[in-house]
Amino acid sequence: PPKSLKDGILPVIPSQLHEDVPAFSPADKESSVSITVVGASGDLAKKKIFPALFALYYEDCLPKHFTIFGYARSKMTDAELRNMVSKTLTCRIDKRENCSDKMEQFLQRCFYHSGQYDSEENFAELDRKLKQHEAGRSSNRLFYLSIPPNIFINVVKSASLSASSSSGWTRVIVEKPFGRDSESSAALTRSLKQYLTEDQIFRIDHYLGKELVENLSVLRFSNLVFEPLWSRQYIRNVQLIFSEDFGTEGRGGYFDNYGIIRDIMQNHLLQILALFAMETPVSLDAEDIRNEKVKVLRSMRPLQLENVVVGQYKSHTKGGVTYPGYIDDKTVPSDSVTPTFAAAALFIDNARWDGVPFLMKAGKALHNKRAEIRVQFRHVPGNLYKRSFGTDLDRATNELVIRVQPDEAIYLKINNKVPGLGMRLDRSNLNLHYAARYSKEIPDAYERLLLDAIEGERRLFIRSDELDAAWDLFTPLLKELEEKKIAPELYPYGSRGPVGAHYLAAKYNVRWG
Ligand code: NDP
Ligand code: BG6
Repeated sequence: PPKSLKDGILPVIPSQLHEDVPAFSPADKESSVSITVVGASGDLAKKKIFPALFALYYEDCLPKHFTIFGYARSKMTDAELRNMVSKTLTCRIDKRENCSDKMEQFLQRCFYHSGQYDSEENFAELDRKLKQHEAGRSSNRLFYLSIPPNIFINVVKSASLSASSSSGWTRVIVEKPFGRDSESSAALTRSLKQYLTEDQIFRIDHYLGKELVENLSVLRFSNLVFEPLWSRQYIRNVQLIFSEDFGTEGRGGYFDNYGIIRDIMQNHLLQILALFAMETPVSLDAEDIRNEKVKVLRSMRPLQLENVVVGQYKSHTKGGVTYPGYIDDKTVPSDSVTPTFAAAALFIDNARWDGVPFLMKAGKALHNKRAEIRVQFRHVPGNLYKRSFGTDLDRATNELVIRVQPDEAIYLKINNKVPGLGMRLDRSNLNLHYAARYSKEIPDAYERLLLDAIEGERRLFIRSDELDAAWDLFTPLLKELEEKKIAPELYPYGSRGPVGAHYLAAKYNVRWG
């Protein structure tokens, strides 16, 4: 039987399809797992990590013996941590009955230890507390570094994480950003590897934990109708689109040092691209999948300035409300040229994808919030029905849309005849709309990734050579943008972004979806 929720493609019988599978075998239940959230007072811990841990507890995916510790400099008692955490916990829509009991039980398993990030003594105190809770059982330890990256190494060193648990495994989840360019990323990797083995490092990219991104390989490799079309022969272009309808609110200080290319493109969108474009892996094992991702990343051409458009949002008044521009944020320098929007054309120089433009677009403060993969297919050769479509043949091509969020869906645009005696064609969607098909709420990406880390499943975490390949693609462009101080095209808050993105797409005969 499958041992975890995510054993990949298993020979399931239909009645099992909707059943969850307990994550731990009876043998595992006698060992303990201690999860330490370093930076527990921060935004990510409150918004994502504690709620995800609670959801796992609620779904019975955590082992019987587990303890959660928050660690940060802020002074807090256990009760204060529980109070803080309780404000962001929510229950699954379909299982509300015993929610408050479960929350209370969960909170009683959460503790807090205040300490400095570079103090061996403070981490030794934490270790003593962890041992008390582990009560002599075989102990496994997971540390989640939810702190700014400049203090990762202090923590890894001071907490002696490499050998934190004497009787079980120790794993460390590391949050982005993993450096700013090839050099700083390599330096971070080198430092981490002084104290940890690659197997202990779980570099998180939460987009890989999103349901529809997970489904990408299933869609492609388990449906005969898609895989044969997945190449330059049938695909005209692929678009990877991320947009948010709010600005950098509250995170301007962090953002100005990174910009949208590092914040979204080099990681989230590129990871999706790699999964989309990789060759069939030998198996679903983490190393086989990551090997294929590295190969495709290494087949890509580094980005060139002429294939990139950058933008920055400016203040805009609509309906009597004034929305602030990026540089109106007090933590952002008034002469900042940091892009809050970017569009880019990327190319994979291998046999499968030669000449196919992969267009990426990512922006903040745009007119809507969405993350999508759009695959536009070629024209049907000698289109028999071209008269019914007039001269706009682009309208007649098939398009596959994988909407990662919100309102998850996979739909295929097809041509069909309008019912009636005449011959008029129409465009319709074959639509797998998740909310209509599945009543169960989709788990948050952090739930899946935390569970994977606890189970030692590395498939959805970034290996160091993947990271190097990703930075190699973006570093020359980022340097050029910064050295030449390329001015971003300004676009109004809430708009569709700079018009330059349309010219870039047009250069490759593409219309943004
Ligand atoms: P925060 O800025 O909220 O920092 C987390 C905690 O770290 C703070 O509560 C603070 O705790 C401590 N801290 C903050 N700045 C410093 C500093 N300069 N020196 C020492 N300690 C500091 O970060 P987030 O919670 O927003 O994010 C955590 C990590 O996750 C970061 O690496 C971030 O880039 C990444 N991330 C965050 C996302 C988000 O949505 N927030 C999304 C994706 C990634 P105390 O003072 O109590 O010690
Ligand atoms: C983070 C970025 O990695 O992803 C943020 O740092 C962005 O700038 C966020 O807002 C988007 O994540 P999601 O899951 O809300 O789409």
